[in-house]
Amino acid sequence: MGAVRSFIAVNIPDELREQISGIQEQLRQTGERVSWTKPGNLHITLRFLGDVEEKRIDELAGLVTRVAGMRSKFSVSLNEVGAFPNLRRPRVLWIGIQEGAQELKRLAVDLENGLAKIGFPREARTFSAHLTIGRVKARVREPFGDELRNIEFQSPPFPVEEICLMRSQLHPAGAIYTPLKVGPFASI
Ligand code: 2AM
Repeated sequence: MGAVRSFIAVNIPDELREQISGIQEQLRQTGERVSWTKPGNLHITLRFLGDVEEKRIDELAGLVTRVAGMRSKFSVSLNEVGAFPNLRRPRVLWIGIQEGAQELKRLAVDLENGLAKIGFPREARTFSAHLTIGRVKARVREPFGDELRNIEFQSPPFPVEEICLMRSQLHPAGAIYTPLKVGPFASI
């Protein structure tokens, strides 16, 4: 039986993908070696699952539906560019969550608890909501941290109404993400 590399995420509206691609373009001018997330692939990860046996996908889809069904619509807005582990040694470049961080965290916790019940080992790291825009591929010039910090970005709030179980297929030209199951929030 095959393995399906998968994760659970919140997807973002297309207008925001365009806005973020503008920031990526701005940062591309710095000439640093960064693998920029394709605009169509931008998402907020709630839980990375890695390789999952294909026969467990239905079970995961059920969990995504159940967890989502206990929540209702909320707003998320994004601002500021940051980096993991920090701006001096940036490796993962991200945009921060301004509004909606608590709700995203609750979803991540519910998923974690649900996953633990069906036998997935708990994630060692605590959840910190962010939206990855690029991964640094080589040592950066010292001013890059300030260049990241100085980007002015503020998204309008957008509604989050569902979560999604996604498949990730890795290819040399970049990952291909495919939705496997959408879990809609309760419509109250
Ligand atoms: P991040 O970009 O928000 O950090 C799909 O691969 C998503 O799963 C990525 O966007 C990444 O989230 C997240 N992820 C978390 N841990 C990962 C890992 N060990 N390998 C790949 N992706 C991981």
